Amino acid sequence: MKNVLIIGGGGREHAIAVQLKKSPEVGKLYCIPGNAGIAEIATCKEISVMDFQAIYDFILYSEGIDMVVVAPDDPLAAGLVDYLTEKGVRAFGPTAEAAQMESSKSFAKAFMNKYNIPTAAYKVFDDFKQAVAYVQQQPHPIVIKADGLALGKGVVISQNAAESVEALSDIMENGKFGDAGTSVVIEEFMTGKEVSILAFCDGKTIVPMVSSQDHKRAFDGDRGPNTGGMGAFSPSHAFTQEVANEFRENIMIPTLQGLQAEGIDFKGVLYFGLMVTADGVKVVEYNARFGDPETQVVLPRLQTDLLEIFNAVIDGRLSEIKIEWSPNAAVTVVLASGGYPIAYEKGMPITIDNPENVIIYHAGTKIFSGELVTWGGRVMDVTALAPTIEEARKIAYTGVSRIQFEKKQFRTDIGNNL
Ligand code: AMP
Ligand code: GLY
Repeated sequence: MKNVLIIGGGGREHAIAVQLKKSPEVGKLYCIPGNAGIAEIATCKEISVMDFQAIYDFILYSEGIDMVVVAPDDPLAAGLVDYLTEKGVRAFGPTAEAAQMESSKSFAKAFMNKYNIPTAAYKVFDDFKQAVAYVQQQPHPIVIKADGLALGKGVVISQNAAESVEALSDIMENGKFGDAGTSVVIEEFMTGKEVSILAFCDGKTIVPMVSSQDHKRAFDGDRGPNTGGMGAFSPSHAFTQEVANEFRENIMIPTLQGLQAEGIDFKGVLYFGLMVTADGVKVVEYNARFGDPETQVVLPRLQTDLLEIFNAVIDGRLSEIKIEWSPNAAVTVVLASGGYPIAYEKGMPITIDNPENVIIYHAGTKIFSGELVTWGGRVMDVTALAPTIEEARKIAYTGVSRIQFEKKQFRTDIGNNL
């Protein structure tokens, strides 16, 4: 039996925990920091995911932790996997060098350019005045991105030059995204259907998981500000066999070959954010981890032992295992705190009234004085599996109606705009 520590505390980490729990090989589960849902199946410890020393001390103190799964972007980018590996701890996830595919948008864009991987045309600026001069000459809409990590919110789609200048000023002059915005990537606006492909990669072999799509905007009809994700469904109807073949040939294989040519041994989950445009599939972004909330619709469909896959990735034996998926579709609806992603309150009591046939992944929840309360912007992900997206949607939304907390906010059109 193997004991596993998961780093992170959202719906994604709950989905990873639930999936690992199904493995006959998994013994005890631990999670840092976890949440109230994860605490039902794992021992949770309130430690910052960025406090590497404290995490290592916890591993030493707990004894018998056989594997650490690092899920969030920040500790990956800061080198938690490198740190643990150096100390002789078996860790799942990319090194800081490999995680640059996500943590630096300019690195990722230069990589795609070098290896001819289709993506939006772009320019990088670290000088505010030059960036302003550039946007004033460009057709709009245009996309302005903070170079570094900004909780998935460092992207502005600007409709005109005045908006662009304001966005540049916020990011570069006023430090809206902190150091992440000392340089910006300005790129061509693409239109089409977005698809997320998460792939297991051991540095030599890359195996895509089933397709999914998330809904990033806060409100119905894709209106409102970008969020960490308000829901997701799998599979994506836009990811036809033809698109899948094109993705494999033009994007997935060249990405693996590019990583190898750069001497980057990418072990972990490589996430391809794709746009299916009128002139082919293009990369919007790479992430170096499981997506959230995509994981909550992808992992419940996994029929192969997740621990076995993590072991194969770490040991470079991914080509030896067969990964199988349920043919069922999945839908997850995020319940958020009113006001998310801008300003919201925490500590609202949550009641759950006998929801049927759904999996409830917790995100921002906590037990406070013996009571389950909201403890973050995204609170829970109500997930359902069924033969079709339409059926899964119905079951998920019935589940949503059984969960109450003050100022509950959610989209009513998840999985609707196929
Ligand atoms: P990112 O953080 O790079 O995933 O960007 C967040 C969201 O902004 C994406 O999921 C897209 O919806 C949108 N986006 C980013 N880049 C572009 C682009 N070049 N054209 C159109 N939409 C984009
Ligand atoms: N759902 C997008 C992300 O995880 O970045």
